[in-house]
Amino acid sequence: MHSFARRLHGEVKETTDKPTKGLLLNGGWRYDLSGWVMDTFSFRGQWRELRRRTIALARLRPDEQVLDVGCGTGTLALEVARRVGGTGRVTGIDPSAEQIARARSKAARRHLSIDFQMGVIEQIPFPEQTFDVVFSTLMMHHLPAPLKRQGLAEIARVLKPGGRLVIADFTRKQDRQGRAARHHAGGSSIDDLTALVQDAGFIQIASEEMHPLRFSAFPGAGFVTAHKG
Ligand SMILES: C[S@@+](CC[C@H](N)C(=O)[O-])C[C@H]1O[C@@H](n2cnc3c(N)ncnc32)[C@H](O)[C@@H]1O
Repeated sequence: MHSFARRLHGEVKETTDKPTKGLLLNGGWRYDLSGWVMDTFSFRGQWRELRRRTIALARLRPDEQVLDVGCGTGTLALEVARRVGGTGRVTGIDPSAEQIARARSKAARRHLSIDFQMGVIEQIPFPEQTFDVVFSTLMMHHLPAPLKRQGLAEIARVLKPGGRLVIADFTRKQDRQGRAARHHAGGSSIDDLTALVQDAGFIQIASEEMHPLRFSAFPGAGFVTAHKG
């Protein structure tokens, strides 16, 4: 990125990306811009609706400790921070230095205190039983199958007993080549996601699907909610 653009957006890449077996995404403000364009003109607002539904499913309470794994540029975490208020705490982790820098600058501009850190689902950088709620939004399709299992075990570790997990992910399996494959490893069916969550020992599992609207290029998504036993 140009140094002028970096200054304009208050984004300075502080450290190198965290190594991961997942598909890391970069882009910072360009990710947000392209996401807005795609959502507005191709998805008919269904990406925004997906975020809204994800947050609603968590039934957040004002004082809760919340983690967003694979937070990207932090858009969901910003919304969550408004819900849990000053007594709650919101944390976001992502392996991409550029996404975390962008998330921090967005939070600073909105005067929201959110702890955005570089981190990976392979080893979530928090002690066990830290969080009431963990979100994973459009991130599972970035992970190879064994890492999905490892990541869910890590999420269970950092959740408090009775804590809630909310996953939103694409449901259409997309086998892609070349550049596209670097951004999208392919979604999984809602049944596969549910089975993974069950295998990780979660209880009270529920799921629902979000189908594409007419004339929308949105690929279809699913939500899985669960509790740590
Ligand atoms: C499609 S983006 C979704 C970002 C954000 N949750 C959203 O809804 O806009 C997927 C994110 O997962 C991150 N990611 C990839 N591998 C990861 C890993 N091992 N641990 C945590 N996040 C990872 C990517 O860097 C990327 O920011």
